[in-house]
Amino acid sequence: MVTKFKSNIHFSCEIAELLQKEAVQIAIGGGVQAIGSREKAKNAARKIIGLLDSSQKEEIQRFINRDTCLMVFTGLYDRNIDGSKTAPPDELPSLKELETDLECIKLGASNQILLEMVNQFAFAYDIDNYGKIMRLVGNFKGGGVNKLSTEKAENVDKSSHSGIALSAHTEAPYHCISTVEAGHSPAPSSLILTARWNPLSEPTTVIPISSILNKLNFEEVLALSTRNFDFTRSETFTEGKGSGGQNVSILEVDKNGRIGMKYNSYRFTANDKAPEFVKKTLEKFNELIQEAYQDKIDLQPSVSIIINNTLALHCRDIIQDNRRLLVRLFGYRNDIDYISLQNDPPLVKG
Ligand SMILES: [Fe+2]
Repeated sequence: MVTKFKSNIHFSCEIAELLQKEAVQIAIGGGVQAIGSREKAKNAARKIIGLLDSSQKEEIQRFINRDTCLMVFTGLYDRNIDGSKTAPPDELPSLKELETDLECIKLGASNQILLEMVNQFAFAYDIDNYGKIMRLVGNFKGGGVNKLSTEKAENVDKSSHSGIALSAHTEAPYHCISTVEAGHSPAPSSLILTARWNPLSEPTTVIPISSILNKLNFEEVLALSTRNFDFTRSETFTEGKGSGGQNVSILEVDKNGRIGMKYNSYRFTANDKAPEFVKKTLEKFNELIQEAYQDKIDLQPSVSIIINNTLALHCRDIIQDNRRLLVRLFGYRNDIDYISLQNDPPLVKG
């Protein structure tokens, strides 16, 4: 049996249109990266929350209180700014074109507002995605089922700009989950995703960690909370920035006394010096991830999800339709400790 781990809100037409209107305003003003957008998003979120009914407010509160680890918004306005349909093009435009495309910028702004609705704010790390808050997730480098005309095998990496399958992970950096550690800010509290195009309904998979941890005994849970693990550097990091790490834990108790996870099945290994029991527990943990409950979400422009990045893993299969394009932002809870490099737009030391 799977306990409820998901909060759902289906927007009324009135709310969907208000969200679209507010997102367009932010987009025209330069999008999530523009000075003042954070404040505009916060105000828009307040207006929208004022229109929710009590059961919808409860769904949000459940996510904020960590009773659920996935927030699903459906019924978002499914049209372009000019009212036309959001039909996919014949081929995915270049990353450069898409990053300045008003429709993509609008979806980023819409995500920024939705993050504010759960008491979080959108931000960027200095070491990641060239310091930009909005990341477009698409097969720009190759590695999908269908080859790109420009594809070169040496460019395909384990990042969200390639088309390869990505096995279960939380988002980097992996030094800590809610406090500053050795000069590093914590991992994102959440990631929010929506789709510009997803013609084949290729899903994003979410795995609640509770379904895995419930199958470990207390000694194994403690083993995963020891600092016996190493991780390799992420390929989404900007060239020359960021690094891997050594002697970190997978599970951590945060500053509020709550459990959280940082893990990446293709980057984490047990340290050579780790006790045999810890190494065995990591093997068991990886096996449990394979059999764990999965929720598959079909992201579309009408759907946006916020994944709690310390209570859920996510993954995806190899990309089949190279026009699939997602819009992703990272969110931090308002009560998290981090090293701020700039307040508006929020830039954080990774
Ligand atoms: Fe990811």
